[in-house]
Amino acid sequence: MNISAQEYRTSFLLRTLPAECKAVSCSMPRHANPKHTAAMTTLAGFIAGMPKAELHLHIEGTLEPELMIEIGRRNGLELPWPDAESARRAYNFRDLQSFLDIYYRATSVLVHEEDFYDLTAAYLRKAASQNVRHAEIFFDPQSHTARGIAFETVIRGIEGALQDARRSLNLSTKLIMCILRHLSEREGLEMFRQALPWRRWITGIGLDSAERDNPPSRFRNLFELAHREGFLLVAHAGEEGGAPSVREALDTLQISRIDHGVHCMEDDGLVAELVRRQIPLTVCPLSNVRLRVFPSMREHNLKRMLQRGLCVTLNSDDPAYFGGYVNENYTEAAEALGLLPGDLVQLARNSFTASSLGTLQKQLYLNELRRYDIETPLQPSENRTR
Ligand code: ADE
Ligand code: ZN
Repeated sequence: MNISAQEYRTSFLLRTLPAECKAVSCSMPRHANPKHTAAMTTLAGFIAGMPKAELHLHIEGTLEPELMIEIGRRNGLELPWPDAESARRAYNFRDLQSFLDIYYRATSVLVHEEDFYDLTAAYLRKAASQNVRHAEIFFDPQSHTARGIAFETVIRGIEGALQDARRSLNLSTKLIMCILRHLSEREGLEMFRQALPWRRWITGIGLDSAERDNPPSRFRNLFELAHREGFLLVAHAGEEGGAPSVREALDTLQISRIDHGVHCMEDDGLVAELVRRQIPLTVCPLSNVRLRVFPSMREHNLKRMLQRGLCVTLNSDDPAYFGGYVNENYTEAAEALGLLPGDLVQLARNSFTASSLGTLQKQLYLNELRRYDIETPLQPSENRTR
């Protein structure tokens, strides 16, 4: 049978979706149609079905060991790990740098446009299966161009999967290009200029990689230029760095969101300002525990951040490395910190309001969330605060 390339890609995207999600042609929101909705009574079930946005997700951090081995093999590349299991065993991190060393090594299997397509398509299938309705996705082009991969190869592969998912998975997406802060601002500017012809596909500019010894102010000129060009600006700050790093990012980079930001809580004045301006913080609890920002989930400051009135969102950062996607982040944080259904809905609400979507699209998603909250029965023991 002859099928078009488009039909092939669509069937590829749909092949692992659970039954209720395949009904993407249905015009009703998935959660509003009883035929598509399982009885969701536990907190984990409530989280699984809840519409949400993901705003802090590195596409290279979704490279599951199985796919890494498969792509490495088809590209004839040697890896330090003979199979997926031994790679997983190596994912035992002391800190951010020990993770980044492995992350950049694993990323080196990505060579061809189809590698970037397959990586992105796999994440989008997973996101749709977790009721992520909107995803703002980071990519790290310098980690590829430094290996001789053309920017065009990277962005065409990623964008191809995003376009197919928008059509077939009923999910909206935006792309944020991150600048690697362990490299120089000159190299970042060079990357930025190379990316400009592709700006129709790029919503935002971010800043990631090693925070220690690479303060935000090193990238002031680049962010100034990106601001003038009209990009959404975000930056990792307050992950390993302290409150001064968050303060500096806010004061020098004109950012409208802070990625991580958990160390802002060391500075009461900074917290007051973040609350007053409702600057969103994209918090990633499993990442913070695996990179030893907090000794355990029970010691994470997420709940205190919410109690202070900060605009916190929950995200998965690099889920292939940190033991879970966005729903696992919600579930493990809820269990360890005693988050209540009202907290979970607040986090999901924040994820939409903190997104870069337009007002109308935000409102549609917020309405979907509101309906879900009203219509989803919870076991009485879980129902205390709704
Ligand atoms: N790149 C990928 N994941 C990151 C993280 N958690 N912090 C900084 N840079 C990253
Ligand atoms: Zn990150």
